[in-house]
Amino acid sequence: MRIAATADLHFTPAQHQALHDQLNRVRDAADVLALAGDLTNYGKPEEMEPLLNVIVRSRVPTVAVLGNHDYESGKQEELMRMMSAAGIKVLDGTGYERDGVGFAGTKGFVGGFGRSMLTAFGEMEIKQFVQASIDEAVKLERAMAQLRTKKRVVVIHYSPIASTVEGEAVEILPFLGTSRLAEVVDRHGADLVVHGHAHHGRPEGKTTGGCPVYNVAITLLQSQEPSSSYRIFDV
Ligand SMILES: [Fe+2]
Ligand SMILES: [Fe+2]
Repeated sequence: MRIAATADLHFTPAQHQALHDQLNRVRDAADVLALAGDLTNYGKPEEMEPLLNVIVRSRVPTVAVLGNHDYESGKQEELMRMMSAAGIKVLDGTGYERDGVGFAGTKGFVGGFGRSMLTAFGEMEIKQFVQASIDEAVKLERAMAQLRTKKRVVVIHYSPIASTVEGEAVEILPFLGTSRLAEVVDRHGADLVVHGHAHHGRPEGKTTGGCPVYNVAITLLQSQEPSSSYRIFDV
């Protein structure tokens, strides 16, 4: 299966034609399109509507997770309903199998990496913050546990590893993802992990368990040589 992956479209109606042209080519290049969150800028249904038009017209089966920007207006449930109604498989702590390939996805959360990961110690506010991170890891666990396929693809918005967010300002690295997600990936094993959120991170890395991780933020893909709006993976 050929999977085209991208993230962080931050769709605005001004990009309508450009995105239409880019996605038109996906149909020839891939069997499935995976969108790793931040589909909109402010999480408004008015932003999602025209984006869905473009995606539906591209006629590529699409799986997607939401990103933090898609939560900005508190309308994430409505956005997910709109996407599902348009035929997009929304992954929110859920799995999906298609042609022998399993997709597991969730938004993920922040919290930092490795020994620098924030832990639930001290103030109630810190504990709640860390709990949000644990909750997303548990959702990914549930999604991966659902899959019965040999081949597994993980779609998340936040990064599970530090190496694909490096390049961003060091001060914000803990806000770009968390190793809690990688721990889940390594427990279940994955052939491919794609994420976004770190617009200026690095294109690829690996979990400590050896699972390949790719940052498919569109700004990063477009900054590479050759420049592209999505990256194709064979699984
Ligand atoms: Fe983004
Ligand atoms: Fe983001």
